[in-house]
Amino acid sequence: MKKSDVVSAILSERQTALPRHSSAQAFAPSNIALCKYWGKRDQELNLPVTSSFSISLGNKGATTELSLSDQDRVYLNDEKINLESAFGKRLLAFLNLFRVNHDLHFVIKTQTNIPVGAGLASSACGFASLTRALNNLFGWELQEHELSIFARLGSGSACRSLWQGFVEWHAGLQENGMDSYGERIAAEWPELRIGLLILSEKEKKISSRDAMQRTVTTSPLYSAWPAKVSHDLSKLKQAVQSKDFILLGETAESNAMTMHATMLSAWPTVCYFLPETISAMQVIWKLREEGLMIFFTQDAGPNLKLLFLEKDRDAVQKYFPGIEVVDPYCKSKNA
Ligand code: PMV
Repeated sequence: MKKSDVVSAILSERQTALPRHSSAQAFAPSNIALCKYWGKRDQELNLPVTSSFSISLGNKGATTELSLSDQDRVYLNDEKINLESAFGKRLLAFLNLFRVNHDLHFVIKTQTNIPVGAGLASSACGFASLTRALNNLFGWELQEHELSIFARLGSGSACRSLWQGFVEWHAGLQENGMDSYGERIAAEWPELRIGLLILSEKEKKISSRDAMQRTVTTSPLYSAWPAKVSHDLSKLKQAVQSKDFILLGETAESNAMTMHATMLSAWPTVCYFLPETISAMQVIWKLREEGLMIFFTQDAGPNLKLLFLEKDRDAVQKYFPGIEVVDPYCKSKNA
């Protein structure tokens, strides 16, 4: 099954319709997984082996402005992207799925307010905001789960970036992935904070796509991952419903460490830890022993995302003065 088959199935007769507007824009928040997506069952459609669970980052994310033009041009934070680069090609391949005819070209201008390429899911909010902008430009009026499926075709975790708050990505069972999309969980937790601890902004040596695949095919521990995920998913949902912060933090941290353990056991080893990553973890574990309730999660990069409550903000900032504190429920910009 190809991406274009999925697009045809969802758009049906709308697929040949010309855009309803000459320009459109949309915002999508970045998201951080508390239960990770690690491993694909279908590489073309970005279908995951397991479900996953995330929290969006409020007004931190990407705004994409899309307009019709006589040639394709892409700008990321005002910088023109070379369409022959890996990123440019990936974006064009996504746009081609929606090009009604060869004369239809787009100018894409994406602005992010999170550090790009620092493992903060910039591709997730980028593809999610582009998907919403396309829906606005063409006037498709798609349902939310259909938009989530389109975003997934750009980048797996983008299917969780269409909404604020907690989101579950259902892995689904179908071969065409029509049952694999994000769904917003109806729960608010205004006291929750996420601290972005940037330890390195260098581009990662191995992409999450390649690292995932290597883990699935070579790690002897990977077979234990699906059971760990289903256990953690139910604990996270319970934590969110009962606002049990310790359960949320412990589950998220343990899930991230287990994901990294599967990577460490892949061959060649996939290691996203820097010495600074381990040092920061040791500070967090010590602070916790001393009674400060702070947890972390880590994605496919060396940086950590700290989880804590607003009441502990000053204490956390005392030990990690450089962190950017994100309020996921900040109301100024909602997707
Ligand atoms: O969607 P991708 O290909 O950027 O992969 C995301 C992988 C992790 O960030 C490590 C986990 C996740 O669920 O976001």
